[in-house]
Amino acid sequence: MSLNFVGISGERIRKVVPTEQTARFVQEMYRLVSPQEQYDVRTLVTLRVAGEVLIGESYACIAPELERRGWLTEEQSQFYWPHWQHDIKRAAIGKYGPSHSDQFSRVLARKLDSEESLRVARESMDAAYRVEAGFFDQFGEYVTKNHEKDL
Ligand SMILES: [Fe+2]
Repeated sequence: MSLNFVGISGERIRKVVPTEQTARFVQEMYRLVSPQEQYDVRTLVTLRVAGEVLIGESYACIAPELERRGWLTEEQSQFYWPHWQHDIKRAAIGKYGPSHSDQFSRVLARKLDSEESLRVARESMDAAYRVEAGFFDQFGEYVTKNHEKDL
């Protein structure tokens, strides 16, 4: 398991309780996809941004840093490296195949057929970004507090 490589025990992983911000993130994601207006576009854009594009961007920071610290190489990783490669927007087709972000794009290209669908797509994209950023904001204090000692 990847988290064992960075010193997090299986017991700790099994006992973790979602933070308030994590629970709020889940509720917000449901709220974003609940309106029926342009439901397909709204859901596809929300999932593409929050569940694929931004995951790929996050792991583009995490995976190389894990390797730089000597904790986890691409060859050892069963989670971060593969997710980075198969989620990131415009990933090269090759070792990991077409990315999930790009697969969503192909479907969206067929669904964005009116000014109204474009408006909903833009709103959904912005909202998904804000909700995802709110999730990561919970780590800001930890990152700020521990950044210097990790360097
Ligand atoms: Fe994915």
